[in-house]
Amino acid sequence: MFTAVEMAPRDPILGLNEQYAADGNPKKVNLGVGVYYDDNGKLPLLKCVQAAEEDMMKAPSARGYLPIDGIAAYDNAVKGLVFGADSEPVQSGRVATIQAIGGTGGLKVGADFLKKLTPAAKVLISDPSWENHRALFTNAGFTVESYPYYDAAKRGIDFEGMLAALKAAPAGTIVVLHACCHNPTGYDITPAQWDQVIAAVKAGGLTPFLDMAYQGFGHGIQEDGAVIGKFVEAGLTFFVSTSFSKSFSLYGERVGALSVLCESKEEAARVLSQLKIAIRTNYSNPPIHGGAVVAAVLNDPARRAVWEAELAEMRVRIKAMRQKLVDGLKAAGVKQDMGFITSQIGMFSYSGLTKDQMVRLREEFGVYGTDTGRMCVAALNSKNIDYVCESIAKVL
Ligand code: LMR
Repeated sequence: MFTAVEMAPRDPILGLNEQYAADGNPKKVNLGVGVYYDDNGKLPLLKCVQAAEEDMMKAPSARGYLPIDGIAAYDNAVKGLVFGADSEPVQSGRVATIQAIGGTGGLKVGADFLKKLTPAAKVLISDPSWENHRALFTNAGFTVESYPYYDAAKRGIDFEGMLAALKAAPAGTIVVLHACCHNPTGYDITPAQWDQVIAAVKAGGLTPFLDMAYQGFGHGIQEDGAVIGKFVEAGLTFFVSTSFSKSFSLYGERVGALSVLCESKEEAARVLSQLKIAIRTNYSNPPIHGGAVVAAVLNDPARRAVWEAELAEMRVRIKAMRQKLVDGLKAAGVKQDMGFITSQIGMFSYSGLTKDQMVRLREEFGVYGTDTGRMCVAALNSKNIDYVCESIAKVL
Protein backbone atom coordinates (compact mmCIF):
# COMPACT_ATOMS: atom_id res chain seq x y z
CA MET A 1 0.00 0.00 0.00
CA PHE A 2 2.79 2.44 0.80
CA THR A 3 5.29 1.46 -1.89
CA ALA A 4 4.60 4.63 -3.88
CA VAL A 5 4.98 6.92 -0.87
CA GLU A 6 7.93 9.20 -1.36
CA MET A 7 10.17 10.42 1.43
CA ALA A 8 9.23 14.04 2.11
CA PRO A 9 11.99 16.58 2.63
CA ARG A 10 12.68 17.72 6.19
CA ASP A 11 10.75 20.76 7.33
CA PRO A 12 12.98 23.77 6.52
CA ILE A 13 12.71 25.08 10.10
CA LEU A 14 11.68 22.29 12.49
CA GLY A 15 13.77 19.79 10.50
CA LEU A 16 16.85 21.73 11.67
CA ASN A 17 16.00 20.79 15.27
CA GLU A 18 16.30 17.12 14.31
CA GLN A 19 19.69 17.71 12.67
CA TYR A 20 20.83 19.82 15.62
CA ALA A 21 19.83 17.14 18.14
CA ALA A 22 21.89 14.58 16.22
CA ASP A 23 24.97 16.84 15.96
CA GLY A 24 27.80 15.75 18.27
CA ASN A 25 29.65 19.10 18.11
CA PRO A 26 29.94 20.33 21.73
CA LYS A 27 30.01 23.94 20.53
CA LYS A 28 26.81 23.66 18.48
CA VAL A 29 24.37 26.60 18.55
CA ASN A 30 20.76 26.43 17.37
CA LEU A 31 19.78 29.67 15.63
CA GLY A 32 17.31 27.80 13.41
CA VAL A 33 13.86 27.80 14.96
CA GLY A 34 12.31 30.99 16.34
CA VAL A 35 12.67 30.33 20.06
CA TYR A 36 13.84 32.71 22.77
CA TYR A 37 16.54 31.43 25.14
CA ASP A 38 17.85 33.42 28.10
CA ASP A 39 21.46 34.44 28.57
CA ASN A 40 22.24 31.00 30.03
CA GLY A 41 20.89 29.36 26.90
CA LYS A 42 17.81 28.13 28.79
CA LEU A 43 14.22 28.21 27.64
CA PRO A 44 12.58 30.49 30.21
CA LEU A 45 9.62 29.44 32.34
CA LEU A 46 8.01 32.82 32.89
CA LYS A 47 7.24 33.79 36.49
CA CYS A 48 3.70 34.80 35.55
CA VAL A 49 3.14 31.34 34.04
CA GLN A 50 4.61 29.57 37.05
CA ALA A 51 2.42 31.59 39.44
CA ALA A 52 -0.72 30.81 37.43
CA GLU A 53 0.19 27.11 37.36
CA GLU A 54 0.85 27.03 41.11
CA ASP A 55 -2.62 28.44 41.71
CA MET A 56 -4.12 25.83 39.40
CA MET A 57 -2.37 23.05 41.27
CA LYS A 58 -3.88 24.26 44.54
CA ALA A 59 -7.31 23.61 43.09
CA PRO A 60 -6.89 20.66 40.74
CA SER A 61 -9.78 20.15 38.38
CA ALA A 62 -11.04 17.38 36.12
CA ARG A 63 -10.55 17.79 32.37
CA GLY A 64 -13.81 17.80 30.48
CA TYR A 65 -14.05 18.84 26.82
CA LEU A 66 -13.71 22.54 26.20
CA PRO A 67 -16.26 24.27 24.00
CA ILE A 68 -15.27 23.99 20.32
CA ASP A 69 -14.10 27.61 20.29
CA GLY A 70 -12.15 27.24 23.54
CA ILE A 71 -12.19 28.93 26.94
CA ALA A 72 -14.46 31.98 26.88
CA ALA A 73 -12.21 33.92 29.30
CA TYR A 74 -9.26 33.18 27.01
CA ASP A 75 -11.05 34.27 23.85
CA ASN A 76 -12.13 37.49 25.56
CA ALA A 77 -8.59 38.15 26.77
CA VAL A 78 -7.30 37.68 23.21
CA LYS A 79 -9.89 40.12 21.86
CA GLY A 80 -8.76 42.66 24.46
CA LEU A 81 -5.10 42.17 23.64
CA VAL A 82 -5.54 42.35 19.88
CA PHE A 83 -8.19 45.08 19.56
CA GLY A 84 -8.23 46.74 23.01
CA ALA A 85 -10.79 45.75 25.63
CA ASP A 86 -12.60 49.09 25.34
CA SER A 87 -12.35 49.29 21.56
CA GLU A 88 -15.47 49.64 19.44
CA PRO A 89 -15.06 46.19 17.75
CA VAL A 90 -14.91 44.41 21.12
CA GLN A 91 -17.60 46.53 22.76
CA SER A 92 -19.98 46.04 19.86
CA GLY A 93 -19.35 42.28 19.80
CA ARG A 94 -18.29 42.13 16.15
CA VAL A 95 -15.10 40.11 16.70
CA ALA A 96 -15.30 36.32 16.40
CA THR A 97 -12.36 34.77 18.29
CA ILE A 98 -11.49 31.11 18.72
CA GLN A 99 -8.76 29.48 20.78
CA ALA A 100 -6.43 27.77 18.32
CA ILE A 101 -3.64 25.24 18.48
CA GLY A 102 -0.83 27.76 18.23
CA GLY A 103 -0.65 30.59 15.73
CA THR A 104 -0.35 27.93 13.03
CA GLY A 105 -3.70 26.52 14.13
CA GLY A 106 -5.26 29.98 13.87
CA LEU A 107 -3.93 30.33 10.32
CA LYS A 108 -5.21 26.88 9.38
CA VAL A 109 -8.72 27.38 10.78
CA GLY A 110 -8.88 30.73 8.96
CA ALA A 111 -7.58 29.16 5.74
CA ASP A 112 -10.14 26.34 5.86
CA PHE A 113 -12.95 28.79 6.50
CA LEU A 114 -11.81 31.05 3.66
CA LYS A 115 -11.49 28.12 1.25
CA LYS A 116 -15.17 27.33 1.76
CA LEU A 117 -16.19 30.97 1.55
CA THR A 118 -14.05 32.07 -1.41
CA PRO A 119 -12.81 28.90 -3.11
CA ALA A 120 -11.46 30.67 -6.21
CA ALA A 121 -9.45 33.31 -4.35
CA LYS A 122 -5.67 33.36 -4.57
CA VAL A 123 -3.41 33.88 -1.59
CA LEU A 124 -0.55 36.37 -1.66
CA ILE A 125 2.30 36.03 0.84
CA SER A 126 5.41 38.17 1.15
CA ASP A 127 8.58 37.21 -0.70
CA PRO A 128 10.07 35.78 1.45
CA SER A 129 7.65 34.76 4.16
CA TRP A 130 7.51 32.34 7.07
CA GLU A 131 8.35 29.03 5.42
CA ASN A 132 5.06 27.46 6.55
CA HIS A 133 2.72 30.13 5.08
CA ARG A 134 2.96 28.81 1.54
CA ALA A 135 2.63 25.16 2.58
CA LEU A 136 -0.27 25.84 4.93
CA PHE A 137 -2.39 27.80 2.44
CA THR A 138 -1.46 25.42 -0.38
CA ASN A 139 -2.57 22.44 1.70
CA ALA A 140 -5.83 24.27 2.42
CA GLY A 141 -6.39 24.18 -1.34
CA PHE A 142 -5.30 27.67 -2.42
CA THR A 143 -2.99 28.80 -5.17
CA VAL A 144 -0.32 30.78 -3.34
CA GLU A 145 1.68 33.54 -4.99
CA SER A 146 3.89 36.23 -3.52
CA TYR A 147 4.24 40.00 -3.41
CA PRO A 148 7.73 41.59 -3.41
CA TYR A 149 9.03 42.36 0.07
CA TYR A 150 12.74 41.93 0.69
CA ASP A 151 15.20 43.90 -1.37
CA ALA A 152 18.58 42.23 -0.94
CA ALA A 153 20.50 44.98 -2.75
CA LYS A 154 19.29 47.73 -0.46
CA ARG A 155 18.99 45.49 2.60
CA GLY A 156 15.46 46.57 3.26
CA ILE A 157 11.99 46.45 1.84
CA ASP A 158 10.96 46.84 -1.78
CA PHE A 159 7.95 48.85 -0.72
CA GLU A 160 7.13 50.15 -4.21
CA GLY A 161 7.11 46.57 -5.48
CA MET A 162 4.93 45.43 -2.61
CA LEU A 163 2.41 48.21 -3.10
CA ALA A 164 2.27 47.72 -6.87
CA ALA A 165 1.58 44.00 -6.42
CA LEU A 166 -1.21 44.68 -3.94
CA LYS A 167 -2.73 47.27 -6.28
CA ALA A 168 -2.62 44.76 -9.14
CA ALA A 169 -4.21 41.90 -7.16
CA PRO A 170 -7.77 40.98 -8.15
CA ALA A 171 -10.58 41.72 -5.70
CA GLY A 172 -11.02 38.96 -3.14
CA THR A 173 -7.32 38.04 -3.05
CA ILE A 174 -6.27 36.97 0.43
CA VAL A 175 -3.19 38.93 1.49
CA VAL A 176 -1.12 37.53 4.33
CA LEU A 177 0.64 40.35 6.17
CA HIS A 178 3.05 40.16 9.10
CA ALA A 179 1.62 42.51 11.74
CA CYS A 180 5.07 43.07 13.28
CA CYS A 181 8.56 41.54 13.42
CA HIS A 182 8.52 40.21 9.87
CA ASN A 183 9.57 36.56 9.71
CA PRO A 184 12.14 35.87 8.27
CA THR A 185 13.62 39.25 7.33
CA GLY A 186 13.23 41.31 10.51
CA TYR A 187 12.24 44.33 8.40
CA ASP A 188 8.86 45.95 9.12
CA ILE A 189 7.14 48.59 7.03
CA THR A 190 6.64 52.00 8.67
CA PRO A 191 3.28 53.28 10.02
CA ALA A 192 3.00 55.59 6.99
CA GLN A 193 3.62 52.64 4.67
CA TRP A 194 0.96 50.64 6.51
CA ASP A 195 -1.47 53.46 5.67
CA GLN A 196 -0.67 53.00 2.01
CA VAL A 197 -1.01 49.22 2.23
CA ILE A 198 -4.37 49.58 3.97
CA ALA A 199 -5.57 52.04 1.32
CA ALA A 200 -4.55 49.59 -1.42
CA VAL A 201 -6.23 46.67 0.36
CA LYS A 202 -9.41 48.70 0.78
CA ALA A 203 -9.49 50.08 -2.76
CA GLY A 204 -8.79 46.65 -4.24
CA GLY A 205 -11.30 44.75 -2.12
CA LEU A 206 -8.59 42.41 -0.83
CA THR A 207 -8.97 40.18 2.23
CA PRO A 208 -6.27 40.94 4.82
CA PHE A 209 -5.00 38.11 7.01
CA LEU A 210 -2.62 39.45 9.65
CA ASP A 211 -0.21 37.02 11.24
CA MET A 212 0.74 38.36 14.68
CA ALA A 213 3.06 35.76 16.18
CA TYR A 214 5.53 38.21 17.72
CA GLN A 215 3.45 40.90 19.41
CA GLY A 216 5.66 42.51 22.06
CA PHE A 217 8.99 41.53 20.50
CA GLY A 218 9.30 44.62 18.32
CA HIS A 219 8.71 47.92 20.10
CA GLY A 220 6.17 46.92 22.76
CA ILE A 221 2.80 45.21 23.11
CA GLN A 222 0.76 48.32 22.27
CA GLU A 223 3.16 49.57 19.63
CA ASP A 224 3.32 46.23 17.81
CA GLY A 225 -0.45 45.90 17.91
CA ALA A 226 -1.09 49.43 16.65
CA VAL A 227 -1.48 48.25 13.07
CA ILE A 228 -4.70 46.44 14.05
CA GLY A 229 -6.22 49.78 15.04
CA LYS A 230 -5.33 51.15 11.61
CA PHE A 231 -7.22 48.34 9.87
CA VAL A 232 -10.19 48.94 12.18
CA GLU A 233 -10.17 52.68 11.48
CA ALA A 234 -10.18 51.97 7.75
CA GLY A 235 -13.47 50.13 8.20
CA LEU A 236 -12.08 46.82 6.96
CA THR A 237 -13.10 43.31 7.92
CA PHE A 238 -10.08 41.07 8.41
CA PHE A 239 -8.40 38.07 10.05
CA VAL A 240 -5.75 38.07 12.79
CA SER A 241 -3.89 35.00 14.00
CA THR A 242 -2.23 35.27 17.40
CA SER A 243 0.47 33.13 18.96
CA PHE A 244 1.54 32.98 22.61
CA SER A 245 4.31 30.48 21.91
CA LYS A 246 7.03 33.10 22.10
CA SER A 247 5.46 35.87 24.18
CA PHE A 248 4.58 33.44 27.01
CA SER A 249 7.39 30.97 26.28
CA LEU A 250 4.68 28.32 25.99
CA TYR A 251 5.83 26.78 22.70
CA GLY A 252 4.84 23.20 23.50
CA GLU A 253 1.40 24.11 24.83
CA ARG A 254 0.34 25.19 21.33
CA VAL A 255 -1.63 28.19 22.47
CA GLY A 256 -2.87 30.67 19.89
CA ALA A 257 -6.02 32.17 18.46
CA LEU A 258 -7.84 33.38 15.39
CA SER A 259 -9.89 36.57 15.46
CA VAL A 260 -12.14 37.68 12.61
CA LEU A 261 -13.40 41.23 12.62
CA CYS A 262 -16.89 41.27 11.11
CA GLU A 263 -19.32 44.05 10.22
CA SER A 264 -21.79 43.35 13.02
CA LYS A 265 -22.41 41.20 16.06
CA GLU A 266 -24.91 39.15 14.10
CA GLU A 267 -22.36 38.55 11.33
CA ALA A 268 -19.71 37.59 13.92
CA ALA A 269 -22.08 34.94 15.30
CA ARG A 270 -22.49 33.42 11.84
CA VAL A 271 -18.74 33.51 11.17
CA LEU A 272 -18.03 31.92 14.56
CA SER A 273 -20.45 29.09 13.77
CA GLN A 274 -18.45 28.32 10.59
CA LEU A 275 -15.08 28.56 12.35
CA LYS A 276 -16.41 25.99 14.80
CA ILE A 277 -17.11 23.60 11.93
CA ALA A 278 -13.51 24.01 10.72
CA ILE A 279 -12.27 23.23 14.24
CA ARG A 280 -14.62 20.32 14.88
CA THR A 281 -13.62 18.60 11.65
CA ASN A 282 -9.89 19.14 12.23
CA TYR A 283 -9.32 18.43 15.93
CA SER A 284 -12.73 18.74 17.62
CA ASN A 285 -11.84 21.24 20.35
CA PRO A 286 -8.66 22.71 21.84
CA PRO A 287 -6.64 21.50 24.83
CA ILE A 288 -7.12 23.21 28.19
CA HIS A 289 -3.84 23.93 29.88
CA GLY A 290 -2.09 26.59 27.80
CA GLY A 291 -5.26 28.59 27.23
CA ALA A 292 -6.12 28.45 30.94
CA VAL A 293 -2.65 29.72 31.87
CA VAL A 294 -2.72 32.60 29.40
CA ALA A 295 -6.24 33.58 30.47
CA ALA A 296 -5.22 33.49 34.14
CA VAL A 297 -2.35 35.87 33.39
CA LEU A 298 -4.02 38.25 30.96
CA ASN A 299 -7.17 38.59 33.09
CA ASP A 300 -5.32 39.37 36.34
CA PRO A 301 -3.84 42.90 36.37
CA ALA A 302 -0.98 42.05 38.74
CA ARG A 303 0.06 38.94 36.80
CA ARG A 304 -0.35 40.75 33.54
CA ALA A 305 2.06 43.43 34.75
CA VAL A 306 4.60 40.69 35.53
CA TRP A 307 4.11 39.23 32.04
CA GLU A 308 4.58 42.62 30.38
CA ALA A 309 7.82 43.13 32.32
CA GLU A 310 9.09 39.65 31.43
CA LEU A 311 8.26 40.18 27.77
CA ALA A 312 10.03 43.55 27.87
CA GLU A 313 13.09 41.84 29.32
CA MET A 314 13.16 39.39 26.41
CA ARG A 315 12.74 42.22 23.91
CA VAL A 316 15.55 44.26 25.44
CA ARG A 317 17.92 41.29 25.59
CA ILE A 318 17.33 40.49 21.92
CA LYS A 319 18.14 44.09 20.98
CA ALA A 320 21.33 43.95 23.03
CA MET A 321 22.36 40.72 21.25
CA ARG A 322 21.85 42.40 17.88
CA GLN A 323 24.40 45.06 18.83
CA LYS A 324 26.77 42.41 20.23
CA LEU A 325 26.46 40.49 16.97
CA VAL A 326 27.39 43.56 14.92
CA ASP A 327 30.33 44.37 17.22
CA GLY A 328 31.44 40.75 17.44
CA LEU A 329 31.45 40.29 13.66
CA LYS A 330 33.60 43.39 13.27
CA ALA A 331 35.97 42.16 15.99
CA ALA A 332 36.15 38.76 14.25
CA GLY A 333 37.42 40.51 11.11
CA VAL A 334 34.28 40.83 8.99
CA LYS A 335 34.97 43.76 6.68
CA GLN A 336 31.49 44.38 5.32
CA ASP A 337 29.16 46.64 7.29
CA MET A 338 26.81 44.41 9.27
CA GLY A 339 25.08 47.37 10.95
CA PHE A 340 21.83 46.44 9.20
CA ILE A 341 21.34 43.76 11.89
CA THR A 342 20.40 46.45 14.41
CA SER A 343 17.81 47.98 12.09
CA GLN A 344 16.00 44.66 11.94
CA ILE A 345 13.41 43.91 14.61
CA GLY A 346 11.97 40.89 16.40
CA MET A 347 13.55 37.47 16.80
CA PHE A 348 15.23 37.11 13.43
CA SER A 349 18.04 38.50 11.38
CA TYR A 350 18.13 37.94 7.66
CA SER A 351 21.89 37.77 7.51
CA GLY A 352 22.40 37.88 3.76
CA LEU A 353 24.44 34.66 3.94
CA THR A 354 23.95 32.29 1.02
CA LYS A 355 22.65 28.75 1.24
CA ASP A 356 26.20 27.42 0.78
CA GLN A 357 27.46 29.58 3.60
CA MET A 358 24.60 28.47 5.87
CA VAL A 359 25.33 24.81 5.08
CA ARG A 360 29.03 25.36 5.88
CA LEU A 361 28.10 27.07 9.14
CA ARG A 362 26.09 24.02 10.05
CA GLU A 363 28.41 21.30 8.87
CA GLU A 364 31.76 22.77 9.88
CA PHE A 365 30.83 24.80 12.94
CA GLY A 366 27.55 23.39 14.26
CA VAL A 367 25.88 26.81 13.93
CA TYR A 368 22.33 26.23 12.71
CA GLY A 369 20.25 28.77 10.78
CA THR A 370 17.83 28.28 7.90
CA ASP A 371 19.13 27.82 4.36
CA THR A 372 17.71 31.23 3.47
CA GLY A 373 20.19 32.91 5.81
CA ARG A 374 17.74 33.52 8.66
CA MET A 375 19.23 33.41 12.15
CA CYS A 376 17.35 33.55 15.42
CA VAL A 377 19.06 36.37 17.33
CA ALA A 378 16.95 35.45 20.38
CA ALA A 379 19.06 32.31 20.82
CA LEU A 380 22.35 34.22 21.07
CA ASN A 381 23.85 34.76 24.52
CA SER A 382 27.01 36.09 26.12
CA LYS A 383 28.54 32.56 26.05
CA ASN A 384 27.90 31.59 22.43
CA ILE A 385 28.14 34.99 20.70
CA ASP A 386 31.93 34.95 20.17
CA TYR A 387 31.87 31.46 18.70
CA VAL A 388 28.97 32.37 16.39
CA CYS A 389 30.75 35.54 15.23
CA GLU A 390 34.03 33.70 14.57
CA SER A 391 32.17 30.98 12.66
CA ILE A 392 30.26 33.50 10.51
CA ALA A 393 33.50 35.40 9.85
CA LYS A 394 35.10 32.18 8.60
CA VAL A 395 32.33 31.36 6.13
CA LEU A 396 32.15 34.95 4.92
C1 LMR B 1 9.86 29.94 13.26
O1 LMR B 1 9.63 30.61 12.25
O2 LMR B 1 10.97 29.46 13.50
C2 LMR B 1 8.78 29.71 14.27
O3 LMR B 1 7.61 30.36 13.87
C3 LMR B 1 8.59 28.29 14.61
C4 LMR B 1 7.91 27.53 13.51
O4 LMR B 1 6.91 26.87 13.80
O5 LMR B 1 8.38 27.54 12.38
